[in-house]
Amino acid sequence: MNISFFNGKFLPHNKICISPEDRGFLFADGVYEVVRWYNGFFFDIEGHHARLRRSLRELKIKWGEEDSFPVIAEKLVKMNHLDDKPALVYFQVTRGAAPRSHTFPSPPVNPTIFAFARPFTPESSGKENGISVMLRKELRWGRCDIKSIALLPNTLCFTEAAEQGYGECIFVKDGFITEGSHSNIFFVIDGVLRTHPESESILSGITRKHTINAAMKCGIRVEERAVHEKELLQVSESFITNTSAEITPVIAFGSIPAGNGKPGPLTGQIHKKFREIVESYARR
Ligand code: PDD
Repeated sequence: MNISFFNGKFLPHNKICISPEDRGFLFADGVYEVVRWYNGFFFDIEGHHARLRRSLRELKIKWGEEDSFPVIAEKLVKMNHLDDKPALVYFQVTRGAAPRSHTFPSPPVNPTIFAFARPFTPESSGKENGISVMLRKELRWGRCDIKSIALLPNTLCFTEAAEQGYGECIFVKDGFITEGSHSNIFFVIDGVLRTHPESESILSGITRKHTINAAMKCGIRVEERAVHEKELLQVSESFITNTSAEITPVIAFGSIPAGNGKPGPLTGQIHKKFREIVESYARR
C-alpha cells in the first residue's frame, strides 16, 4: 500500500480526499517540488527546500511548518520501503480550500500539503545517444522563476513534442532560448558553455546550478548569457538538465543538428563531474 502525506498525516494514498474548493484545483494556486532519492540519500534537498520557501514567499502562501519538508520527504521514502531504490518525492503546497474568489481568502486558510514518494526509472535512461528537441514560441507567464503548479503550457507543448517524437519542447522568447517544458538547457558555442541567466524567464534548476559548478570544476568557461535562435547553427554541443534526467544530450533542434548530431565530449565530461557531485551527497 502506498503511503502519502496529506495535511499533517501519513495516509494510504487512495484514502486522501482533497476539497473541490481547494485553490490548487480551482486556480492552480500552489507550488511544488520534485526531489530525487539516490538509493540511500537525497540530492541537495537543502536546495529544493530553499526553492520551495522562495516559491511560497513569492506567492504569499504561508505554511507554518515549512521546516518539516526534509523530514516528511525522508519519512515517505522509508514508509514506502524505497530506501535502496531510486525514487522521487513530489511535494505540493496550495493556498488551501476556500469559497471560490479571485481574492486570496481573508483571513488566510490553512494551506493544503500533499506529498508522495515513488520509485522511478531515470527519464534519461535509453537516451544516452541524445534527444531531438522541438522549439516553440514561449507562451508561459512572466514568473517562470516560481515553481508553480500552473503547468498547462508546459504539458501542452511537451505532449505535442512527444507525439512528434521529440524528447523535450524548448521555449523561445523574443528570439532567445529560455528553457524546456521541464528542464533547463545548455549550449556549447566556441568552447564556452552557455545557458540563460537566472531571471523571471526560467526556473533556477537545482541540476542547472550543479551543472554550472561541475563545468567550472572541469575548467570549462561558463557564461550565463541567453543563446539566440540564430546562434543555433554555431552550437557544437547541447544538453538539457533536470532532477529526473540529470544531463541528457541534445543532438538536434527541430531540423537543425546540434554540432555533428552526436553527444559531445564536454557534455560527457560535465556529466561525469556532475555524478561525482551527486555521490558527494551520500557522504554528508
Ligand atoms: N521540473 N525548468 C522547468 C520549467 C522545470 O519544470 C524543471 C524541473 C527544471 C529543472 O529543475 P531541477 O533541475 O531543479 O529539476 C527547469 C521537474 C523535474 C518536474 O516538473 O517534474
